[in-house]
Amino acid sequence: MRSLLVQSFSSPCQQVMGIGRNRKLLMERLVFPASCIRAVCLHTNVSRVLITGALGQLGFGLARILRDQLGHHNVVMSDIHKASECVRDSGPYVYLNVQDQGLLARTCVEQDIGCIVHYSAILSADAEANTQRALDINIIGLHNVLEVSRQLNLKLFVPSTIGSFGPESPRNPTPDLAVQRPKSLYGICKIHAELMGEYYHTKFGLDFRCLRYPGVISEHKPGGGTTDYALKMFHDAVTNQVNICCLKLDTRLPMIYIDDLHHATAQYLQMPNNLLKKRTYNIGALDFSPEELALEIQKENPSFQVTYKPDYRQRIAETWPEKLDFSNAMNDWGYRPKYTLETACQKILRSLKSKLNDP
Ligand SMILES: NC(=O)c1ccc[n+]([C@@H]2O[C@H](COP(=O)([O-])OP(=O)(O)OC[C@H]3O[C@@H](n4cnc5c(N)ncnc54)[C@H](O)[C@@H]3O)[C@@H](O)[C@H]2O)c1
Repeated sequence: MRSLLVQSFSSPCQQVMGIGRNRKLLMERLVFPASCIRAVCLHTNVSRVLITGALGQLGFGLARILRDQLGHHNVVMSDIHKASECVRDSGPYVYLNVQDQGLLARTCVEQDIGCIVHYSAILSADAEANTQRALDINIIGLHNVLEVSRQLNLKLFVPSTIGSFGPESPRNPTPDLAVQRPKSLYGICKIHAELMGEYYHTKFGLDFRCLRYPGVISEHKPGGGTTDYALKMFHDAVTNQVNICCLKLDTRLPMIYIDDLHHATAQYLQMPNNLLKKRTYNIGALDFSPEELALEIQKENPSFQVTYKPDYRQRIAETWPEKLDFSNAMNDWGYRPKYTLETACQKILRSLKSKLNDP
């Protein structure tokens, strides 16, 4: 029964988890629905995915999708905070501080990890406010993750950002390969991650993969990122109808709806290595200004009002791309975002309203 399943359903999950070479080769030619992938993962002796910084905005959503595809117990969430009951009930969760290389290595060995998704980071606005903490986590933490991945021969995914570009980069559209002279500490840390990952790939054969994420829009509460002005607008629109925006009304930035981001990440992680022509790809989807977002929100919520009071985040945003060129991701591994600004706004506002009415 087991060998039948393996032969019939060699699946993308094996790419993530590093199964035998013949099965891997077979699988590279095949695509199967999630139900088949689940069946295989439950019947094979596979290693697992570890997500660092998984209690942030993006970790849980990606874990949910990967768990659906790979089996619940095959995706281990980790962070430095106590997890909610909902997270603990959803699958494996461990404490992991990425500044502790020994603990990271031990966790990977004990949990039989085959792939790390490295989400721990201090984001742009918070990094400007706390330089040392940003260096400790975004630089030292990254070095630890690279070293452990090399030593244990793990696949490593690290997200980068539009903040890795700078004012000298072409801004509309910004291609994958361009001048990158970021001015924010966060951007400097992320270009460091891109270059170090590519170096480890070339020098040690590390299966390093990186996507440059645009700003992410979702139902989540705003965090410490510059593009989080958009999240604040959504929250204010369903609570007090009034928003003070930290950017000028015409500051255009590339964005993506969270579901598109998670699906793109899961898809990219599972791509056969030999099909990837680059290790770092832009993934864009939408681009809009605060004024355009406010107008879209007003279609659902006509009494919503925004006042524009740009602060230090305006200087950060002005050095970033307005729109990303993501044609390489489309051509090389079939990236296709689904959500428009209109459909993303509708989904976010309706979900926030229903949570407000039924907390
Ligand atoms: N959210 C976005 O708009 C966006 C855009 C581009 C790139 N990214 C990147 O995606 C990744 C995830 O972003 P996010 O929005 O979920 O970030 P987030 O700030 O919401 O979460 C980061 C997580 O890292 C954890 N963390 C901090 N210090 C740690 C340590 N020493 N050890 C382990 N974990 C630690 C935090 O507890 C937090 O849960 C980050 O690398 C970020 O740079 C995010």
